[in-house]
Amino acid sequence: MLIVSNWKAYVQSFDKARKLFALAKRLSAQKGMELVIAPPAPYLSMFAKGNRSNVRIAAQDVSTVTSGAATGETSAALLSDAGVTYVIIGHSERRAAGETDAVVAEKMQRSIANGLTPILCVGESSRDADAKYLQFLRGQITSALALLSAKERQQVIIAYEPIWAIGKTAAEAISPTDLAEMILYIRKILSELIPGKLSVRTRILYGGSAEPVNARTLAGGSRADGFLVGHASVEVGTYTALVKSLA
Ligand code: PGA
Repeated sequence: MLIVSNWKAYVQSFDKARKLFALAKRLSAQKGMELVIAPPAPYLSMFAKGNRSNVRIAAQDVSTVTSGAATGETSAALLSDAGVTYVIIGHSERRAAGETDAVVAEKMQRSIANGLTPILCVGESSRDADAKYLQFLRGQITSALALLSAKERQQVIIAYEPIWAIGKTAAEAISPTDLAEMILYIRKILSELIPGKLSVRTRILYGGSAEPVNARTLAGGSRADGFLVGHASVEVGTYTALVKSLA
């Protein structure tokens, strides 16, 4: 089970970040548990450089810029040099800030070229009776992988995050049955984009109000390979309970 903690801008002090990282290291001793934390940018290299723990470090975003006169941009090469190994790409909060499918595709390419594993976020903002959201999802995945070779596509992790379920409570998260359906649908799309039977190995995570009370049921009922967790990952109690519920 892969659990990626998306700290967003929730964590606002190094002291808190350090405590959460130490906790993740302790929890990573649980069998079958792969833990990744995505701290805010200023703390990335502090945790990633020389990191010998089982916990891996993810960036919350990456630039399309490679180098040069680009004030404020953080390139994939820079993240890689800092010891970061994963990068969240296309999170709905970045897309809401104007990130297009074309930009997402470029970020995917830059990340893989620099040895970072992309965690591609996709998900509809709402559902409609005609199931147009399925086409929307297909479009997001297809365009994000468009610039990658068949081999590179195999490295991608998908995080299915319906926007309507993000930042709410477990009661408003997706149901295990609906999640199972979505994972099957995503697998079908991937099988068209990744040759042979290799797409069955792609890891598909769920994100959107995964909490200690629903994570186990969601995982059991859907065959999700893990979770991308926001608010429940930044409190010691909820994070501990969530990881333990899945161990
Ligand atoms: P949430 O966020 O767990 O707070 O819903 C998930 C995400 O946005 O990645």
